[in-house]
Amino acid sequence: MTDKEKSLRDLKQETEEDASLPLRESNLVFGEGDPNCKAMFIGEGPGYHEDKLKRPFVGRAGQLLDELILRIGWKRKDVYITNIIKRRPPENRDPLPEEIAAYAPYLTREIEIVNPPVIAALGRFAMNYFLPDAKISRDQGKAFLVGERVVVPLFHPAAALRSTGVLEELKKSFSKLPDIISGRTSVEKPFSSESVSVKPEKRTNPVKQSKLF
Ligand code: URA
Repeated sequence: MTDKEKSLRDLKQETEEDASLPLRESNLVFGEGDPNCKAMFIGEGPGYHEDKLKRPFVGRAGQLLDELILRIGWKRKDVYITNIIKRRPPENRDPLPEEIAAYAPYLTREIEIVNPPVIAALGRFAMNYFLPDAKISRDQGKAFLVGERVVVPLFHPAAALRSTGVLEELKKSFSKLPDIISGRTSVEKPFSSESVSVKPEKRTNPVKQSKLF
């Protein structure tokens, strides 16, 4: 077992044992995948199937996510997949701000351990976790520098299951991920007054640890 795998196992155990966390009537759905991945996918929170199987993105939205990953020549096992909240809210309701805040320290540490060069934030809740002023329809598919890490907001696969227009946009944005990871795409600083675009050659080492999260 590598150091990263051990750290993630310990963090999962700590999350399981933290009695102060909300939604403890549901199962813990911790992240999974390759801790040396190039891209970490972060969703909103587990649904019915995820709660049953205790694994992220294993329902219909998860199947679509798997297909999108395959379409760009990757495999699910080569990325890391997790959620901002790690237990299913009742009736799949939206996560509450206090639930997101309660799980945030664990997500922060999960990100620090995996230390991915690129984070794909799936849907509005995951996007706003990193980019509070972003708007999903305006900003999905763009690459933002948040701290020293690149965050790419994407439509949530569940939204793409409800609309073919959203699905087409999601496919288009997904296909940009390899170039964003390899640094061939410019990255924007989010909504700064200078509206700087950081050219690939100027990008700081994206693998460096972020101070922000
Ligand atoms: N939707 C999410 O946001 N996360 C999952 O794990 C499954 C569906």
